[in-house]
Amino acid sequence: MTQEQSNVSIPIGIQTAIKNIKPISPYVLEMVTNTSLEDLSLLDLARKLSFEPVLSARILDATKAAAYGLSKEVESVFQAVSILGGRRVLDIIVASSLQDSFGKSFLTVEYDIWEHSLLVAYAMQGMLRELDMFITPLARGFTTGLMHDIGKLVLLQYLKNEKRDAELAEFSKYAVSGGDKAIDAERILFRVTHMDIGAYLAKSWSMPEEMVTAIANHHMKDKRRFPNGLTRLLVWAHTLVDKNLTPDQKRSMLPFSIIDKQEELLASIQREVDNIIFFFEK
Ligand SMILES: [Fe+2]
Ligand SMILES: [Fe+2]
Repeated sequence: MTQEQSNVSIPIGIQTAIKNIKPISPYVLEMVTNTSLEDLSLLDLARKLSFEPVLSARILDATKAAAYGLSKEVESVFQAVSILGGRRVLDIIVASSLQDSFGKSFLTVEYDIWEHSLLVAYAMQGMLRELDMFITPLARGFTTGLMHDIGKLVLLQYLKNEKRDAELAEFSKYAVSGGDKAIDAERILFRVTHMDIGAYLAKSWSMPEEMVTAIANHHMKDKRRFPNGLTRLLVWAHTLVDKNLTPDQKRSMLPFSIIDKQEELLASIQREVDNIIFFFEK
């Protein structure tokens, strides 16, 4: 089976762990995968949101934080969407729809994976804005970044279910930034990788094939084999935020137009992540 294919067989115990991961609601998926900023109508977005009470409450909350200092009270979702802007609202919707799965405590490895995933998600957006080419809609890029390591949550859950405490402690150590060694260890320990499981999950949630393929291949090294533009973007975003890579390694992977802007781009990505974490940690 080639790496591009995502139809791997998932061991039974791991399938049980998959059931513990809360799917993204079809409503949220429809909104983020089909929306490009150009045709995003704030009125339409607010109207759709008004049918989702939990999300509406979160958006109102985020607006109060963002609009600190405004004399007027934020009372309606439409008002909130106008203040925050469509882009920000979509980010919050996706990040909050996954946050329940990732865990809310600073001290868990799940939280660290969520934070890493946010960095990659904002790196996807930042690069899409920087690159002078259309690869994918911003919202789809963001969601793919946020979802890319969700397979790791399943593997952690599986070890917890099986009460394999020693392996759980070991896996937790390298789960966030283990690189290739961690992937080899996954193959030995679980017979599948977090990329296989992420792709399997994305497929079972009816995400577009382009996203499934990108998640399945996000650790691909050979630039000539990238199966689609979204995979290429995901590998670039991952490379940009990876603290374990040397400047030379980054240079060999990143597109030419990004190489000289790395520091600037990373600083703005970090600011975006800090803002959204501040919102969730309130
Ligand atoms: Fe990752
Ligand atoms: Fe990964």
